[in-house]
Amino acid sequence: MNKKSRNVNSNNHIRLFDWIAPAYALFFGYQVHKYRQQIKLRPELNHGSPLTIIDIGSGTGALAYVLAEQGHRVIGMDGSLRMTQVARRLNRWAKKRATHKASKTMKATKTTLTLPSFVQVNILKPEISLADIVEQNSQAINAEHPPKIDLIITSFVLHGLDAQQRSIIFRKIKLAAPDKLLILDYSPLRSLVTDVVEWLEGGDYFNFVRTIHTELSEQFPTVEVYPVHRQLNWYVLDI
Ligand SMILES: C[S@@+](CC[C@H](N)C(=O)[O-])C[C@H]1O[C@@H](n2cnc3c(N)ncnc32)[C@H](O)[C@@H]1O
Repeated sequence: MNKKSRNVNSNNHIRLFDWIAPAYALFFGYQVHKYRQQIKLRPELNHGSPLTIIDIGSGTGALAYVLAEQGHRVIGMDGSLRMTQVARRLNRWAKKRATHKASKTMKATKTTLTLPSFVQVNILKPEISLADIVEQNSQAINAEHPPKIDLIITSFVLHGLDAQQRSIIFRKIKLAAPDKLLILDYSPLRSLVTDVVEWLEGGDYFNFVRTIHTELSEQFPTVEVYPVHRQLNWYVLDI
């Protein structure tokens, strides 16, 4: 365990996201636009077969929405009640808007997109099992029964947790036994703006960017890193 990792109080951390959820919601459209570009870079998400995917720390649901647009069955999990409420509302709104647009262009009269399910849960709690949550929500996302978790994805979550919390999450992911884990998060290359934002957020960003590669190598058999841009990487892990 890295001794320099900052201790993050999980309840306070989630409370912060409860507080900022309405402001975060303003960026939903921008995030959808960005995630459409970023998931194009990952062949695991673009081979044509629908996957059952867990999005850990789904926030306002922009990534989950984009994955559902691609035909995937998605369960978003987030510790913040307000984030999950905002995610449900914005996903319904985005689908309505897409249906309206499609009918206007006469391309189709409605979109068949199955919206993600959003579950409020602090996944660090010992009693929480990812597989159980998927089982309980499989009907809502039209997953087979019993559901197989194909892939777990998490974006901009792990740098906010401390190293011990990341390790708990990695263990839970391994227990859920997906084929792959995809992490979209910061690269080691920093900028002043990000430094200030992350310092205000109070997570473990400064340690994360130095140690994430080692942490992942200690937990997973293969770690592949694909730059998205200077400050952002896809980390792709076999389980
Ligand atoms: C920086 S936001 C990222 C949200 C989203 N993935 C995105 O890309 O916009 C981090 C999210 O992780 C959630 N989170 C943090 N700790 C968590 C935990 N222990 N269990 C579940 N969700 C958690 C927060 O509530 C917040 O919504």
